[in-house]
Amino acid sequence: MSTAISPTAYNYKVVRQFAIMTVVWGILGMGLGVFIASQLVWPELNFGLPWTSFGRLRPLHTNLVIFAFGGCALFATSYYVVQRTCQTRLISDSLAAFTFWGWQAVIVGAIITLPLGYTTTKEYAELEWPIAILLAIVWVTYGLVFFGTITKRKTKHIYVGNWFYGAFIVVTAMLHIVNHMSLPVSLFKSYSAYSGATDAMIQWWYGHNAVGFFLTTGFLGMMYYFVPKQAERPIYSYRLSIVHFWALITLYIWAGPHHLHYTALPDWAQSLGMAMSIILLAPSWGGMINGMMTLSGAWHKLRTDPILRFLVVSLAFYGMSTFEGPMMAIKTVNSLSHYTDWTIGHVHAGALGWVAMISIGAIYHMIPKLFGRAQMHSTGLINAHFWLATIGTVLYIASMWVNGITQGLMWRAINDDGTLTYSFVEALQASHPGFIVRALGGAFFASGMLLMAYNVYRTVRAWDPVEAEAAAKIAVVGAH
Ligand code: HEM
Ligand code: HEM
Repeated sequence: MSTAISPTAYNYKVVRQFAIMTVVWGILGMGLGVFIASQLVWPELNFGLPWTSFGRLRPLHTNLVIFAFGGCALFATSYYVVQRTCQTRLISDSLAAFTFWGWQAVIVGAIITLPLGYTTTKEYAELEWPIAILLAIVWVTYGLVFFGTITKRKTKHIYVGNWFYGAFIVVTAMLHIVNHMSLPVSLFKSYSAYSGATDAMIQWWYGHNAVGFFLTTGFLGMMYYFVPKQAERPIYSYRLSIVHFWALITLYIWAGPHHLHYTALPDWAQSLGMAMSIILLAPSWGGMINGMMTLSGAWHKLRTDPILRFLVVSLAFYGMSTFEGPMMAIKTVNSLSHYTDWTIGHVHAGALGWVAMISIGAIYHMIPKLFGRAQMHSTGLINAHFWLATIGTVLYIASMWVNGITQGLMWRAINDDGTLTYSFVEALQASHPGFIVRALGGAFFASGMLLMAYNVYRTVRAWDPVEAEAAAKIAVVGAH
């Protein structure tokens, strides 16, 4: 039998490509994370060169982990989930292939331009206009493939996971296009169309919703499919999932000003952002509880299934970071946490604990199915990966809490005569042990990714195209 997939089968080729690249970019992005974490411990690692300096490599880290690693995981799982829950093939193989190659081109563009110092300077939107335009085209094509596939579904319902993926796709397009409005002055330099406080507000409306829709809503789509699948239980409450969806997308969009507390932004906007952020706790926890409760009657599976453990622990970290976030949005708390490592710890509680762990669980679930194998090459290695990831995340966030609170308190300490008690460099010295622990935690997490790569390689090497073709056959009846 040929290895080509027939039109009566799902398009797994593009899913396989994105799934493999998730692992590749995960290793590079997190490896770079460990490198920049080490630069904060040993500044000599900047090598005195502009291209290898912390300031240029940091945005490359964020672009690689969010857009390359997280993005590929979202493309892979959304294409997999939309086909299986709609029981139909993607609407167009060539458009899907374009999204794969276009997305990789955007990432390569980032890897070349960011170390060279080409940047818009807007955080998480650093890529200059030619790459930003390519990204917009790829994204709109992604929307066409995703929603086109939904329109030709064979099922009556649109499964709730697809609602989350759909919102993530639509809102990301909107954010990216609005925030990137700019005037190009040369091939690699442009100036924002907005100015002053308006520019800052639009940037953080983008920035916060990049968190809300890229790093949260898309991954909730993943959660709604892979948690019930791996637990072999239906989702705890379908009704809660609908309430969760509407409440989450309605509230997230207003919370951006919490990034601009005590700035030139009008005070009412700051207070609105704070209030909306606090209310956001409710839908966030609604989603977390819906995922967790899906395990009712299946908790014993956690003893033997490390993939399920990845998925459940990711939900625990999601719950933790969405409790911490609303607290940090309170202005008085933010006056302590802002500018400190506390923010960095919060970011990575979400990024490592939630985003990376749910993606890793989903990829382990999909790989055997995509490559016609009964299971991953080694369950023991998945288990080892799970512990490296969990311990790595805990070391990372605990050290950043200690550092963040230490920095915040040292910076605000004032002597009786009104002078500062500590110089900045004293706070930096106090942070040094925390930097070492963070680098160690990051190294744990990244080495887990190496185990994953080996495990995936061994599983893929033994792949059976005939089995994979059979597995890709669209079920005419029955569940997804
Ligand atoms: C209810 C949910 C959440 C709320 C209300 C929230 C709130 C906050 C607040 C108040 C800050 C600090 C802003 C500052 O002082 O500059 C922050 C920073 C951040 N949060 Fe969250 N957070 C939430 C969930 C999450 C999750 C789940 C993730 C990741 C997956 C995440 C990623 C980030 C990032 C990346 C930043 C840093 C932005 C930057 O300054 O570059 N947050 N968040
Ligand atoms: C091995 C794992 C990782 C390590 C060691 C690591 C390390 C770092 C370091 C050292 C920074 C700069 C902190 C600073 O400026 O003080 C950083 C920033 C950041 N990282 Fe990571 N990282 C890792 C994984 C990830 C992942 C998987 C994600 C997202 C999915 C992520 C998202 C971010 C973001 C959004 C920031 C910017 C935070 C801000 O501006 O507030 N990181 N990371």
